[in-house]
Amino acid sequence: MAMRPLAASGGEAHGHDALVLRRALLLVALGGAGACGDDGAAPAPTEQPEDFLSELALAVPDDADPDPNVLEVTIRAGTEEVELVSGKATQIWSYGALPGPLLHLTQGDRLVVHFENDLPKDSSIHWHGIRLPVDMDGSPHSQAPVAPGETFTYDFVVPDPGVYYYHPHVFDAEEMGAGLYGALIVDPKEPAAEDLGDPVVLVLSDMSINEDGELAPPDQGGNLATLFGREGAVVLVNGKVRPTMHARNGRRQRWQLINAARSRYFQLSLGEERLLRVGGQAGLSGDPIEMGSFVIAPGERVEVLVTPTGEPGAREELVWTPYDRGYGSTEFREPETIMDVELVGEAIESAPLPAAWPAAPEPLSTAGAEEVDIQLTQSMSGGDLVLGIDGVPFETSIPAAVGETQRWRVTNTMQWDHPFHLHGFFFQVLNEDGTPKTPVEWRDTVNVPQMESVSFVVKYDNRPGDWMFHCHILDHADAGMSGFVTLMK
Ligand code: C2O
Ligand code: CU
Repeated sequence: MAMRPLAASGGEAHGHDALVLRRALLLVALGGAGACGDDGAAPAPTEQPEDFLSELALAVPDDADPDPNVLEVTIRAGTEEVELVSGKATQIWSYGALPGPLLHLTQGDRLVVHFENDLPKDSSIHWHGIRLPVDMDGSPHSQAPVAPGETFTYDFVVPDPGVYYYHPHVFDAEEMGAGLYGALIVDPKEPAAEDLGDPVVLVLSDMSINEDGELAPPDQGGNLATLFGREGAVVLVNGKVRPTMHARNGRRQRWQLINAARSRYFQLSLGEERLLRVGGQAGLSGDPIEMGSFVIAPGERVEVLVTPTGEPGAREELVWTPYDRGYGSTEFREPETIMDVELVGEAIESAPLPAAWPAAPEPLSTAGAEEVDIQLTQSMSGGDLVLGIDGVPFETSIPAAVGETQRWRVTNTMQWDHPFHLHGFFFQVLNEDGTPKTPVEWRDTVNVPQMESVSFVVKYDNRPGDWMFHCHILDHADAGMSGFVTLMK
């Protein structure tokens, strides 16, 4: 048994090498296990078992820059063979691992990524949620696609703490569906003084794999599948099918969850455990919410505190339950266990939660805001399904000026939900009457339920350019449910 209290050092570790550091500490701790046993010291309350995340480990990239405030890595997109369906090899596309390497930074750090495209198709990398210069955004409005065999260097500062991810923005549905996505975590410059729990990054996705082990063609199912949004039957947590976490019974964990799937919504619960939602997309929110289950739409992230507790050796199941996002989403579908949590040892007491929670972001004023009204629409053209913004696929431009505040109302005219995502800027969701929706928090993605409207307020800083917005069901985006903000000086 490891005796070294993990959180005393590993739990506070930040920077991209936190995982490596953590692993090293665990090994160090293990090496001393005999000695600890001899002196009879009680196990430290924060300790996780040695194999805590052995099935959930994310790849960690090599950092080519010795400066602790710069993470410089090479990310190569290429083909890779993995076994996801037992006995069958599946050729996927990956950033060198499934998911791609975990990019772990501290607020204000600089990220340099030398991207190499070894795919047979054009690609790019979009840094979902990051407020970066427009020419680093990786969207078709901001850079030429990176052709097979070509390279591109992304270089920018990460200004805001939060849970983010990266993925291609050319043939998005096809390329993400084939395995191209990775987590990007930004720790706050001033880390919370108190122990919220052991951080665990969970990248959720799915894949469509045919009987022979091959990836399904990206257009399988035609217009109907596009209209629904393609979900893969093989659900993945950190690139694994139903992995097991070996958790210290009673020890609090801080889960940072990312929905990196093309279309699947994740409605999740962990047995009877109460979960404390402490943050969304861009850092901790001011008002933690206790709940038994939560929903993450494609493109969304959430932070929850979880304290798995029970009989020693018991298993708790992280269960996916169908979420009603429109016709076909719940009919004839069963809940599915996507991860097991094995409780190791007798239950221990976790340290109490911080008495004072970080302050919520100030509500953004809507005074003098320009109104923007858009509709998410569906039509047919020459036998093909066309999705759009106000009936127009891809080309709707919303003019805006640097420094301006806009109040958007996004109306969903369809019988399916659409997760709306804006590039480059955060917004705050409003109630129908224009008051801020609580908890007040910064977002870049919000679900717009079927036949409903969602309003938000956004203020543009000084980064002129074309900034995309689109549905993050990527089959919908690729069918035209996408437009852009034209931000002018
Ligand atoms: Cu994940 Cu255009 O976005
Ligand atoms: Cu959609």
